[in-house]
Amino acid sequence: MSITQSATSADELRRMAGEHLWLHFTNMGGHQPPIIARGDGCYLEDIDGKRYLDALAGLFSVNLGYGFGEEIGQAALEQMRELPFYTNWTYAHPRAIELATEVASLAPGDLNRVFFVSGGSEAVESAWKLARQYFIARDGIDPGQKYKAIARDIAYHGTTFGALSLNGVEPLREPFKPLVPEVRHVSNTNRYHRPPEETEAEFTAFLLEELERTILEMGPETICLVHMEPIQNAGGSFVAPEGYWRGVRGLCDKYDILLSADEVITGFGRVGHWFASERYDIRPDIVTCAKGLSSSYAAIGAVVATDRVMEPFLSASSMYTHGITFGGHPVMSAIALKNIEIMKRERIMEHVLGNEDAFSRTLGQLLDLPIVGDLRGTGYFYAIELVKDKETRETFSDEECETLLRGFLSPRLFERGLICRADDRGDPVVQISPPLVATQSEFDEMTGILGDALAEAWEQLH
Ligand SMILES: Cc1ncc(COP(=O)(O)O)c(C=O)c1O
Repeated sequence: MSITQSATSADELRRMAGEHLWLHFTNMGGHQPPIIARGDGCYLEDIDGKRYLDALAGLFSVNLGYGFGEEIGQAALEQMRELPFYTNWTYAHPRAIELATEVASLAPGDLNRVFFVSGGSEAVESAWKLARQYFIARDGIDPGQKYKAIARDIAYHGTTFGALSLNGVEPLREPFKPLVPEVRHVSNTNRYHRPPEETEAEFTAFLLEELERTILEMGPETICLVHMEPIQNAGGSFVAPEGYWRGVRGLCDKYDILLSADEVITGFGRVGHWFASERYDIRPDIVTCAKGLSSSYAAIGAVVATDRVMEPFLSASSMYTHGITFGGHPVMSAIALKNIEIMKRERIMEHVLGNEDAFSRTLGQLLDLPIVGDLRGTGYFYAIELVKDKETRETFSDEECETLLRGFLSPRLFERGLICRADDRGDPVVQISPPLVATQSEFDEMTGILGDALAEAWEQLH
């Protein structure tokens, strides 16, 4: 029985998907995708009526959960009636102005200027272009002088060429080389596999020394951007050690490099603040955001810049030479505005901060399992790392990861009605990042299913 709004039957949809739909990051040969037809709260339902707890919030992005379609849809409809499209190329329109003002008021410090795009990759792409052009506009230097960037190992920053070049996930980069010059990747803040006797302060010092060495090797006068997530997602929710952000900010100031915080995931409540940069006092010059800006009810992202970054572009003779047709789309902007209004009304930030300890305590029960080596993260943004040996922290081989993650764990979790991501872009982790409306009953359900599946996985391996 079809439960979609259209008259297309489930079998027909499966056939049509098989013949026409090209899925992202998917081995298409013989792949029969689950077809998700509806959602409510933290739950999804497929075309056969099977329910799933979405412990990944879509793609770390449906921050409000799936239950506000009616209200947000009404805002979209009203905007459609009033002005279905106009552009931010030279012109403005009310919703983009209101949304820019709202985002600026929520962003920390003097991050006051908002440039809209259609998603995360475009935001990251635009941040790097902005940094390149900033130094040209500010100092009158030639293009090609101060253009390089630094990002971190295994960090995911998107797939368009500029964003992919910042991306530190090697297998995603490989087929598209040569990439945009010139990015170097430094260590991320994964502490789990550092020497056990190393203190937090020593770890911070190691990371900052490496960053400074890299800047000096590349030539500080040639680098325009350091681009990092406040909490790195790929690899599994790496929170930075004490003193790290102060040090990164200090190095960027010392060598006259812009610091960009990639808040595509961490923005709009994932860690209980509108921006994680506020929680960790990162003081970025540029912030990129997307996903949670609209809870993914719309395709909209933004680059937010400080007054200092905007300043050289305020003269009558200089412009940021960049634009995208759908940037600031009025319907997308209306949806994002409504999303923010609902987040405030539902006290989402307070909800996340009030529940993060209970969430991490509940997930912490998984640490009793022999296969779970580490639980890390904060807010509603966690990862558990799977290990072969808890004592030595030995990780699984590539083949074991293939059997464990893709062969067993992913299908078993899905079968049990839990959507989360078993990922081995770094060491094997399960990522847990539910809608921000999740409560203790969802924490219990996901922990229960995960616990059963991980215990089974361990048995399979032995
Ligand atoms: C930190 C980060 N930056 C950028 C992106 C790219 O965003 P999009 O997929 O909307 O292009 C992502 C996507 O997951 C992300 O997690």
